[in-house]
Amino acid sequence: MQPTESSAPLLNDTLSVWMRDAFRKALAPVEDDFASVDVVVAANPEFGDFQCNAALPLAKLLRQSPRKVAEAVVALAGEHPCVAKLEVAGPGFINVTLHNAALVEYLVRMEQSDALGVPQVGAGRTVVLDYSSPNVAKPMHIGHIRSTIIGSALDRLHRRLGYRVVADNHIGDWGTQFGILIKGYHHFVDQEKLRERPVEELERIYVKSYEQSKADPAWLDACRQELVKLQAGDADNHQLWVQFVQWSMTEFERMYARLGVRFDFVRGESYYNDKLPGVLALLGERGLARESEGAQVVFLEEEGLPVCIVRKRDGAFNYATTDLATVQSRVAEFKPEKIVYVTDERQQLHFRQIIAICRRIGITTDLQHVWFGLMRLPEGTFSTRQGNVIRLESLLDEAESRALAIVQASSPQMEPAKQREIARAVGIGAVKYADLSQNPQTQIVFTWDKALALDGNSGPYLQYAYARIASVRDKYAERHPGQDPETFPLQITEPIERTLAVTLSRFPETIVRAAAASRPSIVADYLFDLSKTYSSFYQNVPFLKAPEGIRESRVRLCGLVARVLRAGLDLLGIETPERI
Ligand code: ARG
Repeated sequence: MQPTESSAPLLNDTLSVWMRDAFRKALAPVEDDFASVDVVVAANPEFGDFQCNAALPLAKLLRQSPRKVAEAVVALAGEHPCVAKLEVAGPGFINVTLHNAALVEYLVRMEQSDALGVPQVGAGRTVVLDYSSPNVAKPMHIGHIRSTIIGSALDRLHRRLGYRVVADNHIGDWGTQFGILIKGYHHFVDQEKLRERPVEELERIYVKSYEQSKADPAWLDACRQELVKLQAGDADNHQLWVQFVQWSMTEFERMYARLGVRFDFVRGESYYNDKLPGVLALLGERGLARESEGAQVVFLEEEGLPVCIVRKRDGAFNYATTDLATVQSRVAEFKPEKIVYVTDERQQLHFRQIIAICRRIGITTDLQHVWFGLMRLPEGTFSTRQGNVIRLESLLDEAESRALAIVQASSPQMEPAKQREIARAVGIGAVKYADLSQNPQTQIVFTWDKALALDGNSGPYLQYAYARIASVRDKYAERHPGQDPETFPLQITEPIERTLAVTLSRFPETIVRAAAASRPSIVADYLFDLSKTYSSFYQNVPFLKAPEGIRESRVRLCGLVARVLRAGLDLLGIETPERI
């Protein structure tokens, strides 16, 4: 096998080009590039492999019958070397069925490419990903896990497609909380606890000082004084602030190491401090910022949004000002085509305002806010505020220990060190998959039973499927030593074999679609579908007992399934042990 980086064009793209041409012929007098004509994966595989639904909206526009338009398109499409059957169905859907030979040819090309056919659509393009972004002096809790895990999957997806990815951890390292914290530090710090668990101690100090500031105006005033000193560059307060940031980063980094997450930059809010007056000046020049009740605000009535404060009455800049400066700085430095922010749902309004203001100052970069619902335990929200505190660290510990029990049961003979190593991959994989397999915009109810289920849509299920498939190849190698299945042709003989081939051929397109939609769950759905298809394939056709030739072809398919599962899980940041 000669691995190559060059990948074939996506099947659906090839077919889209062909269909566009047919639409152009069928609707000849209409001047249009028919760019909206798209071929997509068939919703119901009974009717074909792909479908094109473009006749419906176009016919409506031209006030014609969609079915007639579809029929004309089919009549004028002519032959395509990959297509066995082209049919109109229902109100005007066009169904496409591929030749088996075309499918086989595509799979062989996937097999021969290290990238498994995933095209480098991002070559020469840059995307900035803003994710994780926890706050200094507060422990990372379960709410942060989603941003980190979803962001990191988006990071991997884009890199795989050849994008230059700038992963920037926009930590909350500036703001009024530091006045409260510094004041609290001077009065409440327990040096011993600070040495043992610095971030926990900082949080305790913060909460105590915050409560006191609510009850005691003099305390609140003292907190403000500390903040003013910090902002004015007072050496002692600056030194303390540096320490707070360092302690927090050390703890965050421990979590990132466990999750396999890396950033290109950790530019906290403080990085943009000296750029904030410039933002206000620009907004003023453009007539966007106006005074209102002593504050500087931007009215966003046209966009149907509430006013956005960019400088508070006391003269302080805020979260919005910082984010505007951040966009400007990133656009100038990295020239990205898109910037993606991953946060929880509570920041939707904030980002709508930021995006609206950016449009008004002429920033054309695609700005996307990928938001997610909060993760819940059956009993309630995971949140530091609501007392029901489940910290990321204890969640991961528990995942690993539960996974260890599973591994001990399935591989009792295995060395304990090896068992622990696999349990780590399975436990962390289960937590990641539980998150990534959901539509992010739904409320997740996290349960261990579901996350670790070996028979459902879970990380361990897919890891287990991978390990089983890998063992089929081992068995083949044992029985036919020295024989390379790849010297035999791939063939499609049974319907379930065809279904598996079609499913495999969708991997490259799935990756492109998931990145474009910023939805890792598209990859998870695909992998689950692939492993279900594989298991019915495995259960319904003989494998190692099949006649020579067919046997090798099936082993080859099986090898491709394993590679696709491994590559797909890797894009979700999930490891694939060879044994479980
Ligand atoms: N630190 C913020 C929080 O924990 C999230 C920051 C998201 N990124 C941004 N550029 N605003 O809520």
